[in-house]
Amino acid sequence: MHNFGLTPSTEDLSPEHASASDTLFSMNGKHGVVDSTLDERQDGFTWKIDEWWQRTEQAKTEDLYYYFQPVEAVDGAWVVTEGQRKLMFATYSYLGLLQHPRIIAAAQRAVEKYGAGTHGVRILGGTIDLHVEMERTIARFSDREDAIVFATGYVTNLATISALVGRGDWVLSDKWNHASIVDGCLLARGKFVRYRHNDIDDLEKELRKAPEGVGKLVVADAVFSMDGDILNLPAAVEICRRYNARLMVDEAHSLGVLGATGRGIEEYYDMPGSIDIKMGTLSKTIPGVGGYIASDRKLINFLRHTARGFVFSAALPPAVTAAITEAFHVLEDEAVERNKILSRNVRHFIEGLQAAGYDTGLTETPIVPIMVGSEERALAMTQYCQKHNVFILPVLPPAVPEGSARLRANVTAAHTPEDIDFALGVFIEAGRQIGVIE
Ligand SMILES: Cc1ncc(COP(=O)(O)O)c(C=O)c1O
Repeated sequence: MHNFGLTPSTEDLSPEHASASDTLFSMNGKHGVVDSTLDERQDGFTWKIDEWWQRTEQAKTEDLYYYFQPVEAVDGAWVVTEGQRKLMFATYSYLGLLQHPRIIAAAQRAVEKYGAGTHGVRILGGTIDLHVEMERTIARFSDREDAIVFATGYVTNLATISALVGRGDWVLSDKWNHASIVDGCLLARGKFVRYRHNDIDDLEKELRKAPEGVGKLVVADAVFSMDGDILNLPAAVEICRRYNARLMVDEAHSLGVLGATGRGIEEYYDMPGSIDIKMGTLSKTIPGVGGYIASDRKLINFLRHTARGFVFSAALPPAVTAAITEAFHVLEDEAVERNKILSRNVRHFIEGLQAAGYDTGLTETPIVPIMVGSEERALAMTQYCQKHNVFILPVLPPAVPEGSARLRANVTAAHTPEDIDFALGVFIEAGRQIGVIE
């Protein structure tokens, strides 16, 4: 009997077991005896929990389930999972910094000096000097007055949008924005409007409806995470200025990737200082965890005292904090060279796929959607690639529209030209066998 590992099964509820777990399940008669498990009881949640159980079990039975594979070893662009060496194409480590010796050494020094954790939340006892140095480094790299770091990129969007957009304010979000932006908009108490993807005319139409004098926040990804296309920044900036709206841009997939020195979308368009609120993650090009906002010092001060995901959540541990700071220094020293390799790899990969007849959507970046159409094809393609030593995962509806299931391949600077050729060979053979391409 499956019980999700959350409760002991009835067989486990012997008197001996009862005394051992007295604090969890009071068996002394005072509060009654626990005589059924969640698995046996039915309630209003059962149907949805069971639905997911059946879905995942079926995929596992058919050998189509490749999520949560534990990586046992990392060697540049190659990993080992369950003893099998695979070329990694499901990574966000765009510049290949995961095992950079300078970053590893910085993390080691920090853990030796400060220990593994901190005294809790930043606003109380949790701040160490490494946090201050990290935020200053991010602010300088982003060419902004100040920066604030949250526990994850997801929390950064959630906490920032919900702190800023209060009752009566408006938040306008691109329809293809990342889930963390959508969730931030849902949590905010203002009016939430979604405009058509990268359609600045539609954005203007919506902005025109906002009442005079209310706060207006426009939010968009710099590089859209499922399709790899790029925000039309010049048009977005122009319209935001015209309607006195603040522009927030999520640089999760553009930091280190866009612009010759990897500084992101402003560098790509040669529009320094044009974004009001620069958001980024510290788990992709930067090999750590966390998210940041870089902006003017007053906005950062406001977030430090009002963003609930910051005020009520723990500080990043010392090792991660030091690794992040060092990673930005590595970007300052090495991004130009690594970026050139990345661009070469992206061109090589996209051209190879397109020449074989694949549809790669709108991408211009290292995020390359390999469109396959149905969920069944995406799962079959994944299975073929995984069995032939390419680590890739499918993106399925509802994460993308029905009929646009895809493999999302991420190219990095750690791939060699031989790696790209090897992957192309596997993707092309998979597509032919499954009938996606001829
Ligand atoms: C565009 C975008 N924003 C935010 C996030 C969330 O970042 P994190 O994984 O650091 O929480 C992601 C994660 O993939 C993302 O793609």
